[in-house]
Amino acid sequence: MKSFLLIISLAVTSTFLSISFSQKTGLQTYIVFLDKPEGSNSNHADLRSWYTTFLPETTLTTNEERIVHSYRNVVTGFAAKLTPQEARAMEDKAGFVSARVQRSLSLLTTRTPEFLGLQQSLGAWNLPNSGEGVIIGVIDTGINHGHPSFSDEGMPPPPSKWRGRCEFNGKRICNNKLIGARSFLTNTTPSEDVDFYHGSHTAGEAAGSPVQGANVFGQANGTAMGIAPKAHLAMYKICLKDECFESGLLAAMDAAIEDGVDVLSLSITDGSSPFYDNTISLGAFRAIQSGIFVSCSAGNEGPSKSSVVNDAPWILTVGASTIDREIRATVLLGNNVELHGQSAYQPKDLNSRQLPIIDPAATGINASATFCGAGSLNNIL
Ligand SMILES: *[C@@H]1O[C@H](CO)[C@@H](O)[C@H](O)[C@H]1NC(C)=O
Ligand SMILES: *[C@@H]1O[C@H](CO)[C@@H](O)[C@H](O)[C@H]1NC(C)=O
Repeated sequence: MKSFLLIISLAVTSTFLSISFSQKTGLQTYIVFLDKPEGSNSNHADLRSWYTTFLPETTLTTNEERIVHSYRNVVTGFAAKLTPQEARAMEDKAGFVSARVQRSLSLLTTRTPEFLGLQQSLGAWNLPNSGEGVIIGVIDTGINHGHPSFSDEGMPPPPSKWRGRCEFNGKRICNNKLIGARSFLTNTTPSEDVDFYHGSHTAGEAAGSPVQGANVFGQANGTAMGIAPKAHLAMYKICLKDECFESGLLAAMDAAIEDGVDVLSLSITDGSSPFYDNTISLGAFRAIQSGIFVSCSAGNEGPSKSSVVNDAPWILTVGASTIDREIRATVLLGNNVELHGQSAYQPKDLNSRQLPIIDPAATGINASATFCGAGSLNNIL
């Protein structure tokens, strides 16, 4: 049986209720939902010019482009920068359904197969050819494309049905593993656009190539690889470091449907809003109608009955509890009682001299000692 490096969960738990708001202009990004036009003309340019007819005249006199994304697969509608007055002005137009300021989405994380007792080619993990020929679209923070998990050694070229693009910051970063890369962030500078950790983590878990000798300070040494190591990856970037945008999420799903992904994987949440008002469940609904399998993480909150997110019945909701890997570090007390904890830092030459037990909070010498702040215990002995 192959061994897996258990990736320590990077739980990014912050909940964002903030809204995107530009102080300078008073404009906010709205998602505008419309009825399907009669005759359902699916030509993208025609749809976009039809969407433009919903914009109030005030928006047409300014030079700034107001529509930031126009959708055609996941929903009928668009995302546009508007003032509240402009958004209200659209309400009377025939075909208008609703408009609201986009919400920020937050990042989540996932799990390990070995802990789940999965065996390759058996039961739930029946993946003959390790996912060969499958394209997994990951909607996340981006990807560290130089990482060995995204090496394309031994990977065949993308399937001929693939119509996706590779255009990250004007650079071509793709190979036969990472076959697509696009950003749906608008108005961001490259310096803001630096966090690829969460996206690399989730993409690597889904379809990372085998990397031998993966370890943390020499611990947990083994071969790290994704659940489907032969699958191709396409990254759709919609998040900054810890904030993702609804308008970009819909645009990414819209593109993924056209690009020809087989699976969509999201470790992002729109909270527990009702299905009809939740961009992930809306987008996933259209995706499965196009034959795409949608897998989402169940959330970082809990455990309680209502803490699960991404629970629309047409989504595979993947939850995780804890991990069974133990990297034990033991403290031997003077009375021979052994206390087991865990630490990745286990130097071979650690001094076994007996040391006093100290309650850092009780020492009163340094406020940050209470939290074992770096350096705060230096002068304690
Ligand atoms: C990890 O395991 C590989 C293969 O057994 C070995 O060659 C390598 O030296 C190990 N690395 C560490 C840091 O233990
Ligand atoms: C208290 O701890 C901080 C780091 O947490 C350190 O920078 C500072 O020098 C410490 N103060 C004293 C008096 O040791």
